[in-house]
Amino acid sequence: SAEELEGRVRAVKAALGSKLYIPGHHYQKDEIIQFADAAGDSLQLAQLCEKNEEAEHIVFCGVHFMAETADILTAKDQKVYLPDMRAGCSMADMADIYQTERAWEKLTAIFGDTILPLTYVNSTAAIKSFVGENGGATVTSSNAEDMVRWAFGQKERILFLPDQHLGRNTAYNLGVGLDEMAVWNPITDELEFDGPVETIKVLLWKGHCSVHENFTVKNIEDVRNEYPEMKVLVHPECSREVVALSDLNGSTSFIINVIENAEPGSAWAIGTEMNLVNRLIKDHPDKHIISLNPHMCPCLTMNRIDLPHLVWCLETIEEGGEHNVIKVDDKTAKFAKLALDRMLELS
Ligand code: 13P
Ligand code: SF4
Repeated sequence: SAEELEGRVRAVKAALGSKLYIPGHHYQKDEIIQFADAAGDSLQLAQLCEKNEEAEHIVFCGVHFMAETADILTAKDQKVYLPDMRAGCSMADMADIYQTERAWEKLTAIFGDTILPLTYVNSTAAIKSFVGENGGATVTSSNAEDMVRWAFGQKERILFLPDQHLGRNTAYNLGVGLDEMAVWNPITDELEFDGPVETIKVLLWKGHCSVHENFTVKNIEDVRNEYPEMKVLVHPECSREVVALSDLNGSTSFIINVIENAEPGSAWAIGTEMNLVNRLIKDHPDKHIISLNPHMCPCLTMNRIDLPHLVWCLETIEEGGEHNVIKVDDKTAKFAKLALDRMLELS
């Protein structure tokens, strides 16, 4: 039963004390978040892992790229575990290192030394490493504007991997025109752009989040018709059209902050992952909160981390086992850390 499993988690936590650290992303299920030592957005969790020097075992309740980041930012003898190895990210899977190297070769042939690569943290360690080695940095949804501004201080144009939407929304907010942004298609190895290439300022990798693509212009129109007083609050992984029609957009911690500080009685339609939306509904009974898409959108990979996997992972650690350890090789980690450090210094 759930109670029995919860008791087993508590027992391992009590036995290992501060040798064990459990960071949990805001999209995790309640059954997991209740045991997290810290809940946060991608940036906060990376910062917390970097600061934690005493935990020997970091059980990352989130997805694979987050666990890789934690491994890169912690000391060699601190081990990072992912309770279910199938907890990947469909967006991170939309850019592999071979596609990236091919794209870079073609793009630098066109644009020479005028491009700086940036990658959303939702990417593999190999891509972070590539970006670090080429002078660029990582970004998260909390600091994307600062990082893109920084990048334009270095070079004339940027290549933004792998989320076209976060890249487009961020550049647009900084005044880059939609007609100055091109899309790089990693399947056809072609640039999707109509005008003269010299006018391109932002090269957007053709990737997206399979959860946030489910929030549509139609959803916003329906909400505006049914609840004219309702405010629409979305994550910037939503498309440009959706973000443009929303009232507010920002990272998961931004969304939580807005709701926590909202007036009692205020009404909100939220466009982000289901577990977070449901938690906000439950924690704020004084506010009228709904999912922007009435069908509720789960992140299937975040949801792979559940109580049985957590119990198994923790008990294996207690018994001295080394399953599900996430280890980035030293060569990859070196430049990936450079890309992450450039971001953390500016955050
Ligand atoms: P943030 O928590 O940084 O907003 O990230 C959202 C997300 O989709 C993580 O995969
Ligand atoms: Fe990846 Fe989207 Fe899931 Fe975040 S919500 S882990 S970006 S698939």
